[in-house]
Amino acid sequence: MKAVVLVGGFGTRLRPLTETVKKELLPLVDRPILDHTLDRLVQHGVREVIMSSPYLEEAFGPFIAARAGEPAITWVTEERPLGTGGAVVRTLDVVGSDPFFALNGDICTDLDLTAMRAFHDERGASVTIALHHVEDARAFGLVQTEEDGRVVAFREKPTDAVAGDINAGTYLLDPAVLGAFPAGEEISIERTIFPEVIAAGHPVYGFGADGYWIDLGTPEKYLQAHADLLAGRVRGISYDAPWIHPSAEVDPSARLDAAVAVGAEARVGRGARVERSVLHAGAFIGAQAVVLGSVVGAEARVGAGARVSDSVLGAGARVPDHGVLEGARVSVDADVAPG
Ligand code: GTP
Repeated sequence: MKAVVLVGGFGTRLRPLTETVKKELLPLVDRPILDHTLDRLVQHGVREVIMSSPYLEEAFGPFIAARAGEPAITWVTEERPLGTGGAVVRTLDVVGSDPFFALNGDICTDLDLTAMRAFHDERGASVTIALHHVEDARAFGLVQTEEDGRVVAFREKPTDAVAGDINAGTYLLDPAVLGAFPAGEEISIERTIFPEVIAAGHPVYGFGADGYWIDLGTPEKYLQAHADLLAGRVRGISYDAPWIHPSAEVDPSARLDAAVAVGAEARVGRGARVERSVLHAGAFIGAQAVVLGSVVGAEARVGAGARVSDSVLGAGARVPDHGVLEGARVSVDADVAPG
């Protein structure tokens, strides 16, 4: 079984973190997001992954090199961003003729891909779309299905907070139905490919997955995923909470809550308080500083006695001693003004 993993988005909503690290390579607790995605694919019998991105392979090269063993990885470079659908169409010559998974690379989930495959085969589907039920679908757009799971329509984002099933960004696709779409053009899988495949009468089904699912596209969701992973809400993964990399140095008097992850060689000083936050490799939190609901990028520095809340610090950014930062995004290597 093969899978196409999309790793070519801009990651705009996660700036400034994504200015130095591609979204799918950002750490999710102990390893890159993409490692979690690939591990899950391997658990469900995927032996070969095709990664598609307009970014040069160099951005992902070290990751691919470090990831020895399964799955085998084939890299496809898009000459320009082709969108979620165009990127999948671009890989068809590598995919072959059997059904394959295609998935967004920026999702944290415990979706049962084996059950999804069985569902797809039982229905004789051309396309199966994993669905996730949400209570408020305003941010997503809804997928409407019949009783037996057949997809009737994709609906635009609702204006009211209604519950419903959303596209969970994981698909099982029969390559035959994609042959009609032109290679090398920018196409959206949700807005163009699926509606056209449904209109052509192909059997498209929604697989209602229970379990955990979150799109890691924003800092809030990125922090939420850490809190959930550390609280054991994702099946099949467990961590000590707070999670502290063995090479990190956390002063014994510092107070960290259970929703904190501290990356390699990060340091947390005397009397500091860190809650619901993620500290990337080499981050520094000074003595008596308070960090709440924030992401502190690699090698970024929060000075002694500073207070940082609901903020994102890009790699190498610096908050001065006793500085105060609330709801801010600080660019890579930028200095926050004192006071
Ligand atoms: P934002 O800029 O914050 O919206 O992020 P994004 O560009 O990653 O967009 P989005 O979250 O909607 O993308 C969903 C998934 O598709 C992610 O895994 C992206 O990496 C991937 N993706 C989006 N556009 C492209 C593209 O043009 N080519 C490829 N290969 N992947 C893409």
